[in-house]
Amino acid sequence: SLTRRLALAAALALPLALPVAPATAQTQMTVQHALPLNSHTGVGASTFAQTFERLTNGRFRVATQRNDNEREMIESVQIGTIDCTFTSTGPVGNFVPEVRLFDVPFLFRDATHARGVLDSEIGQQVLARFPARGLVGVVWIENGFRNLTNSRREVNTPADVRGLKIRTMENQVHMRAFTTLGALPTPMAFSELVPALQQGTVDGQENPISVIVANNLNQVQRYMTLTRHVYSPQVMICNPGTVGRLNAADRALFQQAAVAAQAANRARVTADEEAGVEELRRRGMTVITQVDTAAFQAALAPAFAEWERTLDAATLRRIRDWR
Ligand code: PAF
Repeated sequence: SLTRRLALAAALALPLALPVAPATAQTQMTVQHALPLNSHTGVGASTFAQTFERLTNGRFRVATQRNDNEREMIESVQIGTIDCTFTSTGPVGNFVPEVRLFDVPFLFRDATHARGVLDSEIGQQVLARFPARGLVGVVWIENGFRNLTNSRREVNTPADVRGLKIRTMENQVHMRAFTTLGALPTPMAFSELVPALQQGTVDGQENPISVIVANNLNQVQRYMTLTRHVYSPQVMICNPGTVGRLNAADRALFQQAAVAAQAANRARVTADEEAGVEELRRRGMTVITQVDTAAFQAALAPAFAEWERTLDAATLRRIRDWR
């Protein structure tokens, strides 16, 4: 009969229909970062993921993914298709203009200065500007100091930079710096960089040693000059909904995991900078270590004058005076 057939069908379907409930409900999160997992950014993201999973006894599961287009990651965080990103400040000023302050060349003397300022109330004040732009700035991490590489010639003086086509990040402050030096800056996402270097669309690029080593840029670039022309902060940015849904206790654990990520990221950048020059020479790069920093700073004078007018001059002064 129809009733029996329905009963049989229901009995057969029953095992499939039973929900397979985990012991506790798990919340999934997705975090994206540029560069390979075995890099300072990958180490930061995976440390965050493992620490947060551990601190919450597995109630949260954090997936990490690579994406070499940082603007795209920030847009995805803003619309909520991913939860968080570990990104350089490269494109961040286009979302949160106050961040541009930290992109000014030769602003930070060394890593201690940069990390100290970013961890101080100056860094906190800038993170406090993110929510107005639909983003949450969680913690400052880093890439390290950026150096110039190219495939044309040894760069020893600012004059050697003239006429070089240099890929920059999508960052107004950096582009202005390279225009002032007489270079031809071409902004593009990092994901487009290697083909652009291979095809000769650009002659050079600038990135910290950690990035050059992790991404084998020595295969497409012959010369590197340790210009250390600008410190390159990274920042962990999350969707406001992701952070807002956490209760107070989980939010504290989230922050604790972010601080663990910061420590792992910075330790890796320090190690990469120590070993990197030797490694890149071993891979065949010509590395110029003697750089007349004062000459580069003097060549940038018109740009510095402009940033004093267009950025927060008082905070720039506080950063320079920071001890
Ligand atoms: O050059 C860039 O775009 C960035 O420095 C990178 C490599 C994506 C890391 O933040």
